[in-house]
Amino acid sequence: MTLPGDFSQAEKINRMIRVNHAGEYGAQRIYAGQLAVLGKRECAPTIERMAEQEQEHLDTFSNMMIARKVRPTALMPLWHVGGFALGAVTALMGEKAAMACTVAVESVIDEHYAKQEIELAGDESELKHAVTKFRADEKEHHDTALNFGAEQAPFYHILTSAIVLQTKLAIWLSTRI
Ligand SMILES: [Fe+2]
Ligand SMILES: [Fe+2]
Repeated sequence: MTLPGDFSQAEKINRMIRVNHAGEYGAQRIYAGQLAVLGKRECAPTIERMAEQEQEHLDTFSNMMIARKVRPTALMPLWHVGGFALGAVTALMGEKAAMACTVAVESVIDEHYAKQEIELAGDESELKHAVTKFRADEKEHHDTALNFGAEQAPFYHILTSAIVLQTKLAIWLSTRI
């Protein structure tokens, strides 16, 4: 039975691709913001490697959108500016704060992809495969950032809690708008 406010399976999948595309775009912009500030620092090659993986994630969802004629979220301009600003501002607070930002964002993305893995169960093997692979990459980014001493960032708990909330809000909005 379909209730008002329920979505067809196809619409559900479209929304998943849309929010994932937005998230990967945001991630890529965060790392770009970090590199704009920290591009010559010791952590730069590590950030560059993560940024390359985000580009691969983004390309995968972009291609899926084109193939399935899924529109991007209308909030792309916001993620363009907001992602870069979040990356640059945390980087200005220092390498460890930049890494704390990565820990916060990736912990939310990990949860987000874990939920999708369950929702997708046996369906949509291409999408599910991407989600599983990217989730492993995000987990690696999370752990890399922790190893870089993210937890020693000033105001670590306040900073990460604020970024976790922002990221969750961005996911919520990108699924709907
Ligand atoms: Fe990613
Ligand atoms: Fe990531």
